[in-house]
Amino acid sequence: MIPELSMIALTVLVVALLTGYTAYTGIAPVPTSRPGREMVLASLPEVDGGTIVEAGSGWGGLAMGIARARPRAQVYGYELSPLPCLLARLRRWVRPTPNVRFYCRDLRQASFCEVDAVVCYLHAEAVAALAPKLRAELPHGAVVVSNTFPFPGWRPSEVRQPQVRFDAPVYIYRLPEACEVAAPGA
Ligand SMILES: C[S@@+](CC[C@H](N)C(=O)[O-])C[C@H]1O[C@@H](n2cnc3c(N)ncnc32)[C@H](O)[C@@H]1O
Repeated sequence: MIPELSMIALTVLVVALLTGYTAYTGIAPVPTSRPGREMVLASLPEVDGGTIVEAGSGWGGLAMGIARARPRAQVYGYELSPLPCLLARLRRWVRPTPNVRFYCRDLRQASFCEVDAVVCYLHAEAVAALAPKLRAELPHGAVVVSNTFPFPGWRPSEVRQPQVRFDAPVYIYRLPEACEVAAPGA
């Protein structure tokens, strides 16, 4: 009886945590699809070293993939929802990947000042809210790769369309050009 009650309590806790944080952030920790992951990886600059931030790193699969694809870069994942973040840390422990770290915290409190590339898969309001922070903090030449949701008012240097039906595009921005509004008639 007690093990059954413990299982029920654990299940309720897991569901409550996941739904509570989904309601708070406005997006569930849905991982990027495999084709989407390949498009994101292909969109990242071939940095020799450098820092890549995944803003909202979910269960950590994409950040781990980025870290393996860019072994000389430092990859930082910020994730507010505690269960996905803890699982991401567990994955890193199970499959040691020294150039990735996961921070269980709000990406809006992260500094993007010395970051070469930012990857995100958020939602329309979240990318709109993040835009001024990235614009103010990212150094010149930084790249922003957004899965599914374009940054409003920014000009992408490229939009990668998926080969797979029902999958979403990936928007690639290079700063500061992406944020510069074209002069009328230009
Ligand atoms: C759709 S999932 C994407 C997960 C992962 N980036 C991927 O592509 O596989 C979006 C994630 O962003 C997280 N998130 C949303 N707002 C956040 C915030 N302000 N700070 C940290 N994480 C946030 C959510 O908890 C969720 O796990």
